[in-house]
Amino acid sequence: VKHVRIRHLQEAKRVRERFVMLTAYEQYAAEIFDQAGIDVLLVGDSASNNVYGHKNSIPVTLDQLIPLCAAVTRSVQRPLVVADLPFGSFEVSTSQAVESSVRLMKEGLAHAVKMESTKHFAPHVSALTNAGIPVMAHIGFTAQREHQLGGYRVQGRGDDAKRLMEDALALQEAGAFCLLMEMIPEDVATGIDAAVDIPTIGIGAGASTTGQVLVWQDMAGLGSGKPFTFVKQYANLREDLTKAAQAFAKEVRQGAFPTLDHTF
Ligand code: KIV
Ligand code: NA
Repeated sequence: VKHVRIRHLQEAKRVRERFVMLTAYEQYAAEIFDQAGIDVLLVGDSASNNVYGHKNSIPVTLDQLIPLCAAVTRSVQRPLVVADLPFGSFEVSTSQAVESSVRLMKEGLAHAVKMESTKHFAPHVSALTNAGIPVMAHIGFTAQREHQLGGYRVQGRGDDAKRLMEDALALQEAGAFCLLMEMIPEDVATGIDAAVDIPTIGIGAGASTTGQVLVWQDMAGLGSGKPFTFVKQYANLREDLTKAAQAFAKEVRQGAFPTLDHTF
């Protein structure tokens, strides 16, 4: 596959193959993930708390995400690049959703957008789909609603599972090409995956989804603080980078760098 298209993700669901998504916000990470065979890159609104230094995803703006997205798309060949619609960029009306998504595609060079949604946003998903914009719906825990949901909490436990199933079916019906599920009990995610025809992506939603996504800095151990239960760290970049910076500082202070090797 030369370029990953939404039809390839749909095909993966049909033949029960898995695909892989990571966030990316700039050139080198994007380039490396492309070369590593990652299928989908998400320019998440998690740039808010992984690039811009905020505590959560609420403050990041469309104007801040667009240049990051363009940088990612310009840096890759194969992956599908999906951009998040940040908080406040789509809720007001279906027109606002279309206008913001057009900017993410035209200026941000995104191939598709992702919207934190409930069944009440089916009209927005439908408006985007009618405008020719592929939309990935994101349900379950949605960080833009942190204050409404009362913090980072698993969604869809017990009777609440019915609500998520309704969201999933309504968003598929509205035209979403894919469904991302975050922090949902595995049995609930399995039920939803079986009930929809579109591919699913999980983060903290167990192993039955078509794809899996993680925030790259979490996956690579770059962040500070204790990782979420659903994160696996495949590297310890924070430690590696700390050691590199310390070694550089030490050699400069000792006069050990630069040597003649690095001098004109
Ligand atoms: O912005 C983001 O990183 C996300 C993932 C948690 C899926 O939405
Ligand atoms: Na997000």
